[in-house]
Amino acid sequence: MKRILVTGAEGQLGRCLKDFVLKSGNKEFQFVFMDKQQLDITRKELIETFFFSNKIDYCINCAAYTNVDLAETEVEKAFSVNSDGPAFLAEECKEQGAVLIHISTDYVFDGNADYPYLPDDLPNPVNVYGKSKLEGERRAVNQNPKTIIVRTSWLYSRYGKNFYTTMLRLMAEKDELNVVSDQIGKPTDANDLAEFLYHLVESGQSEPKIYHFAGKEQMSWYEFAQKIAKENGFKTRINPIPTAQYPTPAVRPKWSVLGE
Ligand SMILES: NC(=O)c1ccc[n+]([C@@H]2O[C@H](COP(=O)([O-])OP(=O)(O)OC[C@H]3O[C@@H](n4cnc5c(N)ncnc54)[C@H](OP(=O)(O)O)[C@@H]3O)[C@@H](O)[C@H]2O)c1
Repeated sequence: MKRILVTGAEGQLGRCLKDFVLKSGNKEFQFVFMDKQQLDITRKELIETFFFSNKIDYCINCAAYTNVDLAETEVEKAFSVNSDGPAFLAEECKEQGAVLIHISTDYVFDGNADYPYLPDDLPNPVNVYGKSKLEGERRAVNQNPKTIIVRTSWLYSRYGKNFYTTMLRLMAEKDELNVVSDQIGKPTDANDLAEFLYHLVESGQSEPKIYHFAGKEQMSWYEFAQKIAKENGFKTRINPIPTAQYPTPAVRPKWSVLGE
């Protein structure tokens, strides 16, 4: 029987993974879902205690500090969760010969390319969140030779606060919305990513590798908002605006298209 630890289990990806595991009903795998209250990945002593009393074959790290704008001021916290946490997990995974599957982001790239970013392209993050995630990738890989990095982009689901759920709420409240049309990326259904992660475990992957996993279509936030409105029957008028008209604390890459 394979034992799989999932950290950050109450986040959107963690919850989608739990849904998929319940649906799959595979008795060969024992998934252990731990949320922030049960296992804070920034607390090394807690990680050590957990691994001391639990033998793990895989750890899927869904825990992260994901508030891109707040990260600009909560720098230490962002690095603690996104860099120290994965490093602690990787260290313990190595001790046990376990595979760490660490989730990362398109925001490790600067967005100045005009082609889909490939896994081996040179990262160059433009905001604190991206920098903390890149450092987390590197430390996880350095600590454990069996680390698999899975970068994804524009993750959405019906869980938690993401662009999709925010749009649904705003579309229910407002007749008109302005949405940025000059940032391009690939929206990714968190359920599809959960399924991909499950199959990585199922297939026994343990070779170190960087995967890019994103939705098939590339579009702007404006086009994504239009799609959400159409699929959910909202008549909200959506206006395209440039990033310059929607300033945010964190700079975002203009081109966040992941290729395989
Ligand atoms: N969301 C996106 O658009 C996006 C895009 C690209 C990549 N990603 C990556 O995809 C992964 C999953 O993201 P997501 O959208 O599922 O994020 P999420 O919904 O914010 O989930 C992250 C979870 O981690 C928890 N967490 C925070 N600090 C923790 C700690 N110290 N120890 C344990 N758990 C902690 C959070 O709890 P609290 O909420 O209570 O803090 C939350 O439940 C992350 O690695 C993220 O960087 C996300």
